[in-house]
Amino acid sequence: MFKAFVLPLLLLCSARLACAGANCGYQTCNLGDENSLNVHLVPHTHDDVGWLKTVDQYYYGANQKIVQAGVQYILDSVVSQLLLDPNRRFIYVEMAFFARWWLEQSDHVKSQVKMLVDEGRLEFILGGWCMNDEAATHYNAIIDQMTLGMTFLNRTFGPCARPRVAWQIDPFGHSREQASLFAQMGFDGLFFGRLDFEDKQLREKELKMEEIWRGSESLDSPNADLFTGVNENGYGPPSGFCFDTYCADEPIMDDNSLEEFNVKDKVNFFVDAARRQAKHFKTNHIMMTMGSDFQYENAIMWFKNLDKLIKYVNAAKKNVTVFYSTPSCYLYALNQADKEWTVKTDDFFPYAERPHSFWTGYFTSRPGLKAYTRESNKFLQVCNQVEASSYFKNHQNTLSRTSAALKAAMGVAQHHDAVSGTSKQHVANDYAKRLYIGRESCKSVISEVISGSASQLTFCDYLNVTLCNYTQNMQQFTVIAYNPIGREISRYLRIPVDGSASFDVVDMATGNSVASELVPVTEATTSVRRNRGNAASELLFLATEPALGYQQYKVTKRSVSTNFLKKNPISKTKGDITISNEFYKVVFDGNSGLMKTVVNSASQIETMISQQLLWYNASLGNSASNQQSGAYVFRPNSTNPFHISADGKAEVKLVQSDNPLVQEVYQKFSDWAYQVVRLYKGKKFVEVEWTVGPIPVDDKWGKEIISRYDTPMVTNGYVYTDANGREVLERKYNYRPTWNLNQSEPVAGNYYPVNSRIYIKDSKYQLTVLTDRSQGGASLKNGSLELMVHRRLLGEDGKGVGEPLNETGQFGDGLIVRGKHWLLLDTITSSQRQHRLLAEEIFMSPLVAFQNVTSDTNTMGSGSWLVAPLPDNVHLLTLATTPDGVLIRLEHQFTKSDDAELSKPVTVSLKNLFKNFQPTSVEELWLGANAKKDDVTRLQWKLSERTKRENRVYNFERPYYDVTNDFQTSLGDNFDVTLQPMQIRTFLMK
Ligand SMILES: *[C@@H]1O[C@H](CO)[C@@H](O)[C@H](O)[C@H]1NC(C)=O
Ligand SMILES: *[C@@H]1O[C@H](CO)[C@@H](O)[C@H](O)[C@H]1NC(C)=O
Ligand SMILES: [Zn+2]
Repeated sequence: MFKAFVLPLLLLCSARLACAGANCGYQTCNLGDENSLNVHLVPHTHDDVGWLKTVDQYYYGANQKIVQAGVQYILDSVVSQLLLDPNRRFIYVEMAFFARWWLEQSDHVKSQVKMLVDEGRLEFILGGWCMNDEAATHYNAIIDQMTLGMTFLNRTFGPCARPRVAWQIDPFGHSREQASLFAQMGFDGLFFGRLDFEDKQLREKELKMEEIWRGSESLDSPNADLFTGVNENGYGPPSGFCFDTYCADEPIMDDNSLEEFNVKDKVNFFVDAARRQAKHFKTNHIMMTMGSDFQYENAIMWFKNLDKLIKYVNAAKKNVTVFYSTPSCYLYALNQADKEWTVKTDDFFPYAERPHSFWTGYFTSRPGLKAYTRESNKFLQVCNQVEASSYFKNHQNTLSRTSAALKAAMGVAQHHDAVSGTSKQHVANDYAKRLYIGRESCKSVISEVISGSASQLTFCDYLNVTLCNYTQNMQQFTVIAYNPIGREISRYLRIPVDGSASFDVVDMATGNSVASELVPVTEATTSVRRNRGNAASELLFLATEPALGYQQYKVTKRSVSTNFLKKNPISKTKGDITISNEFYKVVFDGNSGLMKTVVNSASQIETMISQQLLWYNASLGNSASNQQSGAYVFRPNSTNPFHISADGKAEVKLVQSDNPLVQEVYQKFSDWAYQVVRLYKGKKFVEVEWTVGPIPVDDKWGKEIISRYDTPMVTNGYVYTDANGREVLERKYNYRPTWNLNQSEPVAGNYYPVNSRIYIKDSKYQLTVLTDRSQGGASLKNGSLELMVHRRLLGEDGKGVGEPLNETGQFGDGLIVRGKHWLLLDTITSSQRQHRLLAEEIFMSPLVAFQNVTSDTNTMGSGSWLVAPLPDNVHLLTLATTPDGVLIRLEHQFTKSDDAELSKPVTVSLKNLFKNFQPTSVEELWLGANAKKDDVTRLQWKLSERTKRENRVYNFERPYYDVTNDFQTSLGDNFDVTLQPMQIRTFLMK
């Protein structure tokens, strides 16, 4: 019987899919009955990669006192139930769980699972290591986590397992960049569950639950277009049809001699639910998500009842056809329905579940974990790069450790309860610990490649708080600065040292001495560092590193202090305080201690900019709503934030302004809120380092701390925020592009995710703030912009995590967090160019390590893996070894409207790019590296005529370069890769 079901379909297998012996893909889909309403039942489980329990506890079903959930049993149970009936279908999503379950299976089970996959009965959806958050994630990490999961699937099961549909059913709002990346990974569609309640109501009415989402303003359609559907019930079943152990709904009782026989009722109820749902959708197909969090641990319950439901509803002949299906089969049915679809060009942020309930707090929640995750991304890229360079040299992998642990830890950390900051505290600790373990392996890898020995280099994890026992105590040491960017970079390094001496710094490649100076350790730093170290100064010098390589500097302590003067901060009592360099002048009000004026002398711009740290009092509920501020939800109790010091002033100190390399102003708002504002010689930005915590809560108010910039700029309510570190979206105060907003929260309802930058502009100028981690940001007044930097809460927002977000850190008195903002005040034209390049330098800043001078293992003062630097507009996004060769991703890092020169298409030859490595073959892959570009064709969709017209007016700015359809198909003999603005191309080199 089962054979008869499969065999005829085999003939439809296309030669391109190389699915010899297998039958998978859209041709296995049941498309129902074209004359009736078709209900696609999608059995599924939603398995969080850590949330209330750690990822290990969820996998094994440990720590059941918190919550009953065990993923290993889910997979065991589902597989055995699928084998019983070829009609049954199931989808699985999170590879962090599946990959470890797979390793534990016998060959017999493995072959059964392979058969289920080949026959489309077990289908992988999304296929990422996790279902990543979309607000706090960086695109580099999203691409890596998707690659990790999807290449595991391809290696394990071949092309039949390639996920065709992205499945983001739980993340709390959806980013346009995510849609763009999914499209570039070859996905045919995306389904999700959470969106603003008003948005959803309107979509149901206007039949716009399903649209084409245009993910990019630069990439030509359809390259970043993605069919996107909103699920009717989030990701749960319709009411009355939950058949899991977790649920209380009645099973189908179908012995008609029984008193409680309920088949008729169940059928009627179901048919009604289906017809109601169908009213919101365009075609005669609808999808029902039959499952929820950690369901199917006893899959018998679901499948037994769904089998009966299908049987009885179909038998009732009510013009409703029900069958087992998958999201990709549902998508295919829509594709075959031959309808025209409207286009969406904005995004799905912020997510309001109901009035007063805006999920905008998690944009900032757990700022320490957010920064650690961002920095770990850099660690991983460096680790990948040095692994590749070692492979170039030796043509095989000879290293004793690998990047594998950090890859997996980063995959887990992108989960929508991980980097989002919405897990329980013990789970957040577990995420950080995994990253730490992965980084330790990578330190060995980096050390072995650069110095020849896995333990030669010393890394100091706490350089940001001037803590490094190694440098603090050495007479002489070498500083190694590794630059992961494909162009030369110069960056100031700050090394913790003993403050009583002076130091010589020598560039070991040239033998030249390098200018340096000692900067005193701030009170803010000692407040974070406490008893963990006592370096009195930071040794500051400008390190210049070659493209994709490293530079070494020798530091020698002198016994006598000669040419270096320790600069002590001085308090000024009267008059304004000014710091300046070649580009900027920043003036602080002598009375209030706050920033007052910023002058960009090169562009001759002068504007008043007042900046301060302020706090919102976290709501514990009020008469309008009992909604509290929590890990997910931001809800201030009052619209206006409060001053930190009683009088709204900051105590200011100036480090002598005749320092040649850096000028600094220290601001103290209170003993838990400090800033240092810096201007470095030769650097075209104002650096603002903030240190916030322990946030006091003894007044019983949870506090959400912001940094706010106020200017006289006329901004008309507009503010611009990036999506996942790539393209920028326009936001407007109390406004949504596709519906009339009834604003219930004037502060929280105007917050947006900021991953790397936020800016405001008037007709001439732009004020840009770049960040070192994801934060929430807003513009609530004309000329104003703010970023939320830290939060400590006493209430709980009722979204399931069950703990107040009250991080206490290692000293038990409230976590202290330190971070940086970089300000640019410039003409709009100049700002667009600068923020692109500076953002790259921030997230890929040099990795610093130390070693002994006496070591003779490596005498090279510098090294680069590149033959020549890459052009400024090209970012080397990935360079990594895989079992098949070397994976490289090149990215055009400018949009088509950023810059007259740098927005142009650019060509890079892979032929003479790397030292010691000439590719013999280069094959282009989809962005997720799981399939060759030539092997996959995406489904095509018809756009409605009206949409096509509307879309012409959608570009905010006139592009410098008009993208045409001339995407390159052949690389030629030199493997010349041409990149269009914002295009990322992925290649496997052998
Ligand atoms: C059956 O359902 C289809 C799709 O909803 C509809 O077009 C058709 O009119 C229905 N037929 C009857 C007899 O109700
Ligand atoms: C996908 O996996 C198959 C083997 O299962 C392999 O031959 C092929 O090269 C892989 N594709 C990519 C792009 O890695
Ligand atoms: Zn979830």
